[in-house]
Amino acid sequence: MTYTQALSLLTQHGQTQLLSYYHQLSPAQQTQLLQDISRIDFSVLSNLGASSAQKELGTITPIQAVGLEEISRRRSEFEEAGLNLLRQNKVGAVLLAGGQGSRLGFDKPKGMFNIGVTRTLSIFQQQMHNAFNVTNKSGCFFHLFVMTSLTNNSETQEFFKQNDYFGYPPEKIHFFVQDVAPACGFDGSIFLDQTYRVALTPNGNGGWYSSMQNCGLGQVIKDEGIEWLNVYGVDNVLQRMCDPVFIGATVKLGCACGAKVVRKVSAEERVGVLCNENGKPTVIEYYEMPEHLKNLTQNGRLVYPYGVILNYLFRVEDLNRIIKGKLPYHLAKKAIAHVEDGRRVTPAQPCGYKFETLVVDMVRLVDSCLAFEVDRESEFAPVKNATGVDSVQTARELLIKNGVSL
Ligand code: UD1
Repeated sequence: MTYTQALSLLTQHGQTQLLSYYHQLSPAQQTQLLQDISRIDFSVLSNLGASSAQKELGTITPIQAVGLEEISRRRSEFEEAGLNLLRQNKVGAVLLAGGQGSRLGFDKPKGMFNIGVTRTLSIFQQQMHNAFNVTNKSGCFFHLFVMTSLTNNSETQEFFKQNDYFGYPPEKIHFFVQDVAPACGFDGSIFLDQTYRVALTPNGNGGWYSSMQNCGLGQVIKDEGIEWLNVYGVDNVLQRMCDPVFIGATVKLGCACGAKVVRKVSAEERVGVLCNENGKPTVIEYYEMPEHLKNLTQNGRLVYPYGVILNYLFRVEDLNRIIKGKLPYHLAKKAIAHVEDGRRVTPAQPCGYKFETLVVDMVRLVDSCLAFEVDRESEFAPVKNATGVDSVQTARELLIKNGVSL
């Protein structure tokens, strides 16, 4: 993109402030800035004001889950069905690792965080250990797609390499970088992160499948005949990916997608809630769940008890359809470092918006979703905070309970 092209594009979108310092930059910086400008998806700004994601909710009703008891009763039937699909190479896994460990006070990719005490045990390593529990049973390796961000991609790939891919066949691991969205001030002006860099931030974990396609991985999925993708987050050290029982249950019970859920410990637990909206399954994030529904109880039990643990199974056919449309953007008010009067400032208070699509929004776009209950003590050890709830400490305690030596 040339300067003239950039100027014309920015004039069209009312964002010429991005070129304010252009003539003071070195040639290399000018090239960098023009490249950033060419990557801006201006359409996200249309979400300012009344965001489609913050629309009014429809009629919310509770969802029925396949519970622990039924799963235990039908375990071998489900497991066999899941193992069959894995052996036919019809299921792949997608690890969402685009986030940084900032809430842990860790400035590297979250998966590199050492959860060990007397030995080094990174989150990535612990999760790969869980993958081997499946591959040892099925006798074959599933394709693993790892989503990184522009910020952490090279560090993540380097870490896997240094650790010899934790013993997993490297040709089965595919890294891809997630797409970005511009961050802007409350008035809608896109920020500069540096005088020569536009503030482009990861576009949320809902961008995973379209980012995979944009990186050319759609071809791998096609060539390998993968029909289902199990997508999961990096920040649960007990995460069980490609769990044959979960896969088998979703398929056997004829559902278009599956979501692992736990019974919430309290109304306030910070997990998305799986429920029905206008009769169709949906996930409402904890910060968007109306108070009266969140706290509603019957005979002392929550009426909306099922929290998602960020472990979903989607059919590739549905994903190909979903990405033809647009997922709604959620606006997050954040303190965003940006350039003001030629100097980079790091405000302590929110000063603008980041735009994120969320994986939870994919659930309402498919016909049916199996709420698959799992035992939280053996499958949900979130590592979100440095201390307190969902912290390094609580995750360590759960790992020890599950027989992992730290
Ligand atoms: C997430 C879930 C929530 C669930 C909870 C369980 C979403 C939107 N929220 O909440 O429903 O109950 O976990 O612990 O899924 N990520 C990226 N790129 C991004 C943003 C995030 O890859 O741009 C990844 C992170 O690395 C992480 C995961 O997505 O693996 C979760 O992200 P986060 O935004 O921290 O979600 P939570 O609020 O923890």
